[in-house]
Amino acid sequence: MDGMSNSAYRYIQTHRIAGALGAEISGVNLAEPLALEVLAEIRRALLENLVIFFRDQDMTPERMLRFARNWGEIHRHPYIAGMPDYPDVLELNKKASDKRNFGGDWHTDQMFAPKPAMGTMLWAKQVPAAGGDTLFANMYLAYESLSDGMKALISDVRGMCVGDKKKSGASRAAVNAATISMTTLEPPPDMPRESAHPLVRTHPETGRKSLYIGGHVHYLENMTREESAPLVEYLYEHSHRPEFTCRFRWQQGSLAFWDNRCTQHFAINDYPAETRIMHRVTVCGDTPY
Ligand code: OGA
Ligand code: MN
Repeated sequence: MDGMSNSAYRYIQTHRIAGALGAEISGVNLAEPLALEVLAEIRRALLENLVIFFRDQDMTPERMLRFARNWGEIHRHPYIAGMPDYPDVLELNKKASDKRNFGGDWHTDQMFAPKPAMGTMLWAKQVPAAGGDTLFANMYLAYESLSDGMKALISDVRGMCVGDKKKSGASRAAVNAATISMTTLEPPPDMPRESAHPLVRTHPETGRKSLYIGGHVHYLENMTREESAPLVEYLYEHSHRPEFTCRFRWQQGSLAFWDNRCTQHFAINDYPAETRIMHRVTVCGDTPY
């Protein structure tokens, strides 16, 4: 597989890191403007591997934004303040004193929004000596491995997605104050607090179906939370079985770019008393169908 897909690329090399998804890409310097042919290969590598990783990238907020703009409009986070000079770049700074982390459950980004993020880029500015890895899961595989009966059952069901992750009963501001050293914002009052999205999502570029579930799905449309819970919990647990996942070990200068339309991810909180600083840029997506 690796040899086959490598030989199909002219400008980059891909090295898969797991059976389910994920590839390291070499032969490209993201700090510079990229030729259209190179960008086309990176797009193909993303669609084939779902999440791609680049090592030793000398990024700045400007360079990240320039690379991200190749994929669409840049998304501004409704709840979290960006860097002072770069409102579209978030600095995720988990300090030694922070108990909780950002992204520490299985989820896909901005699923609570009517148009969730297409993709997210994360660049490692400072990483712990060990720990702080990120897990990713392949939602095509999660869908395809369901029984025909379950596929039929959920084919027309929509999940109700809420901004706060389900494990917390506390308000967003209270949770964030106790967790991460980041400035939280009041979202605009007209911003919808929840969105309904199909549990079975068709990828607009590959045409493949995937299971569209994550920590933001609190219940199912037209059902009570109690009625929804068994199915939501089953699908959530199923979606990140080990054989659907990969695990990325960060180094300073690593950049990950994942497709939120067919993956989930999970930031492991296993580095107490150490600092981890990441820069994050998110690309806008479209309405799931
Ligand atoms: C995110 C996120 C994961 C990580 O930026 O959306 O979930 O490993 N981050 O920091
Ligand atoms: Mn995330």
